[in-house]
Amino acid sequence: MCGIIGCVGRGDETLDTLVHGLSKLEYRGYDSAGVALANDHIDLCKHSGKIADLREALSDRTLSGSVGIGHTRWSTHGPPTDENAHPHQDCTGDVAVVHNGIIENYQSLRDELVGAGHTFTSDTDTEVVPHLIEDALSSGADPEDAVRETVDRLEGSYAVAVVIAGCDSVFAARNDSPLVLGIDDDATYLASDVPAFRDFTDKVVYLADGEFARLNGAGWTVTDTDGNIIEKDIDTVQWDPEETGKSGYDHFMLKEIHEQPRALRQCLRGRVDELAGTVDIGDLGDLSPTGVQFVACGTSYHAALHGAQLFREAGIPAQAFLASEYATATPPIGDALVVGVTQSGETADTLSALRAARRRGARTLAVTNVVGSTAARECDHALYIRAGPEIGVAATKTFASQLAALNLLALGTSSTGDARQVISALRDLPGHVQEVLDESAAQEVAELYQDASAYFFIGRGYQNPVALEGALKMKEITYKHAEGFAAGELKHGPLALVTENTPVFAIVTGDDERARKTIGNVKEVEARDAPVVAITDGQSDVERYADHVLHIPETHPRAAAVLANTHLQLVSYHTAALLGRNIDKPRNLAKSVTVE
Ligand code: F6R
Repeated sequence: MCGIIGCVGRGDETLDTLVHGLSKLEYRGYDSAGVALANDHIDLCKHSGKIADLREALSDRTLSGSVGIGHTRWSTHGPPTDENAHPHQDCTGDVAVVHNGIIENYQSLRDELVGAGHTFTSDTDTEVVPHLIEDALSSGADPEDAVRETVDRLEGSYAVAVVIAGCDSVFAARNDSPLVLGIDDDATYLASDVPAFRDFTDKVVYLADGEFARLNGAGWTVTDTDGNIIEKDIDTVQWDPEETGKSGYDHFMLKEIHEQPRALRQCLRGRVDELAGTVDIGDLGDLSPTGVQFVACGTSYHAALHGAQLFREAGIPAQAFLASEYATATPPIGDALVVGVTQSGETADTLSALRAARRRGARTLAVTNVVGSTAARECDHALYIRAGPEIGVAATKTFASQLAALNLLALGTSSTGDARQVISALRDLPGHVQEVLDESAAQEVAELYQDASAYFFIGRGYQNPVALEGALKMKEITYKHAEGFAAGELKHGPLALVTENTPVFAIVTGDDERARKTIGNVKEVEARDAPVVAITDGQSDVERYADHVLHIPETHPRAAAVLANTHLQLVSYHTAALLGRNIDKPRNLAKSVTVE
């Protein structure tokens, strides 16, 4: 992960611009942060900890220069210390480098450099980069050639940005890690993600793998590995800078939970024709898959489980795989479609599974939130979930939008008997989520059970992925033990964990056989004295066996999954708030996981 930023053309505001940009990228990692400005030498400041620690360290320093780079780190090689913080420098101190990704051949490069007399000061893979540039410069290469020669020697994933003393440019290159330029009249930016410079410009240029950028007072150029100019399109970002602020909420997570109605409306806008009972998902063409394999991680995997169920229900064989385990999957057959569900579009495990699928000859589709992301560009097709930027590390509104988008995908590429009912449930979904948000008793439940020793979540069918997601959210932001189960599995082992101190959240919608069986499972935990919180539309009599009820409006079970999940997001949020956790940046986690 890690976030990188660079800018030229901001004059005396260069340092402030970099630090401001880093604060917007902190969701990508917050183990350490640093900046380097180039003038006739390099002025550098870096510190372990958060951007606030960097600001503190900068308070008694003067850094000058109008060309600069910055970095916020999520550790991969070496612990989060001051020494391992970026930017990294060469032996002379004239080169400074920030990097996101993993340099796979760093050990052999490091051995070679150490053999040639270079001294290393960190445990990072990144540090080989400034030393290689130093060697190239001392062999007479000009700064741009020195950076190019160095990048040519790197294997693995990287987005790197470089400044060199006495040179008026920021150089950057990418392979397998995101990098985007921000274009303004008299300033140019580069960053891992748009929020870093969105306060200054809405004009962006997405770099592709193998591209090389040079930013200086004259503007910017993008070239290929041979130095040929590449004409790039300048895109305009559609969202406002305020969309990345907290808008009065205590945390981004809470704000994003409350943004779900709007995110869902955006996802559905122009894509459903209720009268005709049809769905239009743009220029995906006629996918008509004979089978579907989903690949995804974490929350997106839970959405993928929902997606696979949708296709199976439409009579199309479908399976969801954890992306990191996809290597062991049966290869896709015939006209199968492999769908990567990924909010960021940058998750290394998911990208790697999608690439494996392409090598196996499958057509690929990215269901993603980020336009221009690696998944969107590398797949044959992209379906955007249109949730808007999500800053909280825990995925919330993007899960809701993933479920909605996957329903559109299933409706648009297969036929299902109850399409009209699903479409009308989708149309009602934003309003129904708003009802849940307005009336949820989640906070009272959180207050009652904040001291529980563990939390369990159960559900069947479409509510099974919701149970898994409820548990994931609970663990990641409260740091407490939580597990989600298919309701029928509880009695095959996990029941041994159930006590009066382990609340069980049971999602029961409708009044069919599934609901009745889940109620049977509720009775099993009730008999072991576990408090039961039922999330229900009130159609069954589960309330009779529950200690607390979180109500959802009556709707189609597919849409009910989003509603039940909204309650569970709020329960986790309020529990974490009561426990004083760092909700938007839970320990050890980062928003975008770009390592396998
Ligand atoms: C959990 C969470 C993670 C991500 C996972 C995949 O709240 O956010 O589990 O869902 O890292 O990320 P994307 O969807 O960006 O591929």
